Amino acid sequence: MHIIFLTLYPEMFPATLGHGVAGRAFQQGLWNYETINIRDYATDKHQKVDDTPYGGGAGMVMKADVVARAIDAAFERSPKAQLICPSPHGRHFTQAQSHHLATTHASVIFLCGRFEAIDQRIIEHYQPLEVSIGDYILLGGEVAALAISESMLRHISGVLGNAETHDDESFMIGKDCAGLLEYPHYTKPPIWNGYSVPEVLTSGNHQRIDAWRREQSEQITARKRPELWKEYCNIITPEGQKNPKGSD
Ligand code: ADE
Repeated sequence: MHIIFLTLYPEMFPATLGHGVAGRAFQQGLWNYETINIRDYATDKHQKVDDTPYGGGAGMVMKADVVARAIDAAFERSPKAQLICPSPHGRHFTQAQSHHLATTHASVIFLCGRFEAIDQRIIEHYQPLEVSIGDYILLGGEVAALAISESMLRHISGVLGNAETHDDESFMIGKDCAGLLEYPHYTKPPIWNGYSVPEVLTSGNHQRIDAWRREQSEQITARKRPELWKEYCNIITPEGQKNPKGSD
């Protein structure tokens, strides 16, 4: 996967993506990135990238002409890329969308906005995929672009080593549907601070362990994320049935 970050702050990258699993995958050539400094596409002597909003009001707006030149430069490098604009206007980013993007696009371009907004004509003209990482306002799109990228990289073949790959993930998250939260995890020592590891996990009985984990996933999802649970319960299974827990 190739990722281009269009930003006023190229020094913010690769940040977290240069470390751990993503950093190792980068070293292995499983993905790469470049940054394009939007300011390099300003033409006046002050390299102005923003201006006051028509209609008045607080904040500055990123200039359409400058941003457009930067986007065009990115598409020259990666003509088939999917343009993504992290924005509170977008649909909430989900695991299913992450999987879809990572497996259908070899390259993506992130347009990271700053200031109050990007001139709306950019959105109309380029029709980027607007994606929100939650109902709160960040200072810019960079952190969201990093979060979305990190999530997508997990779906690239070879990025997760055997130790990090969850066989269970297929039941945790369906391709187009809501998933369940993961069951609790434990490691040594068997007793810590008076808390024991659940007996079933040391039983060696994998059928019981699988059943316990499934049960835990369902209970935790229902308790902590009732809206996810409701969605999950309404999923039609491949057999055409609603999830049997749906009536709970
Ligand atoms: N830019 C500013 N706030 C954002 C959010 N919540 N999600 C994605 N991009 C953003």
